[in-house]
Amino acid sequence: MKTLIVILFATAAMLAGGKDPVPPPQPPKIKVGLIVSTTGALATFGSDTKNGVDLAVQEINKAGGIGGQEIEIVFKDCASKPEDAESAAQILTTKKKVVACIGCVASGLTLAAAPVFQKAEVPLISPTATNPTVTQQGKMIFRGCFMDDFQGEGIAVYATSDMKAKTAAIISNQDDPYSIGLAKFFKDKFTELGGKVVSEQNYRFDADDYETQLKAIRAAAPDVVFAPVYYNDLLVIARQAKELEYAPKLLGCDGWESRQLLAEDAVGVEGAVFADHFCAGHGDEADAFVTAYKKKYNEDPSSLAALGYDTVCMLVAALADAGSTEGEKIARSLGALKDFNGVTGRKIRMGAERSPEKPLIMVKIEKGEFAFVREVTYDEVRPPEQK
Ligand code: PHE
Repeated sequence: MKTLIVILFATAAMLAGGKDPVPPPQPPKIKVGLIVSTTGALATFGSDTKNGVDLAVQEINKAGGIGGQEIEIVFKDCASKPEDAESAAQILTTKKKVVACIGCVASGLTLAAAPVFQKAEVPLISPTATNPTVTQQGKMIFRGCFMDDFQGEGIAVYATSDMKAKTAAIISNQDDPYSIGLAKFFKDKFTELGGKVVSEQNYRFDADDYETQLKAIRAAAPDVVFAPVYYNDLLVIARQAKELEYAPKLLGCDGWESRQLLAEDAVGVEGAVFADHFCAGHGDEADAFVTAYKKKYNEDPSSLAALGYDTVCMLVAALADAGSTEGEKIARSLGALKDFNGVTGRKIRMGAERSPEKPLIMVKIEKGEFAFVREVTYDEVRPPEQK
């Protein structure tokens, strides 16, 4: 009887009020920018990175966000163009007022956006831009991946020790800082290791014909051909080599990472080896991530997806540590990040150049798949006494 009275009383009170109980106010979301290229020449870079970022944000928000505050991603596609990357940076720092930003995917694009973030004192962390000059744009600019001095040197070590190469040729894009940087870092180390670069070929940004360069390389008969270029150019270079009935031993860099290399119309790339950041199936630490990613997107995560995922987690760790959304404080926490366990490496520490040290993952294109070859570690490239 008593219970009934209580229920009747409560119902009457609700009817009188006319409203359901008001839910408690939600804390404001933390706005984080994301600039990647999901269209244009480097579209697969951007869509993969965005997938990794979205998965991480979904998991973090589900687990309660940062002290109860959810992350909200404010996304801009920069269409693989530096000028669009710069204008996206302007919008995110002024109109959208993001507290930090993730992006861009390629070094040249990140170099266009970085000065805007530096000036606005909003931390920018690129998951994938490897060119050393990117983080030299200022104290607000970070990256979540290794740098190209290490990458170029590591590839030279692999060419010498694993491929037993004594001579090499290089074909690079003379208008792209990423390509120029890698060509130089590789050449210096390969030469230091006793190898000889017998042909150096360049092309311009808008090139679509590499026949002259390929013929010059063939004439020099190098043991390996290093192509520090992006996948879209590589696909044409490899096809033209095949048309010339030239089958060089192709050696590449992280810019090759795209499933387009595994497509049926990709010719001349079988057996080629390139340096990367991650290879799904290698190392069990990433198992949970690979499973969750496959469940959400129905494919294996690429290195870009893995780096996008790790970068969100690094930024969230820094935001939690800073306990503030002030640019200066977030940057300080990002700079002090250490012992971070990600899917692209364990015990990651943000190094002196606002860049982490991680191993190279050498990958081979084999029967339409990316096959793990081996890791090239920091200590192998730069023995501790030489560091
Ligand atoms: N490192 C490349 C750059 O700086 C981008 C990239 C990273 C591409 C990882 C593919 C995979 O331009």
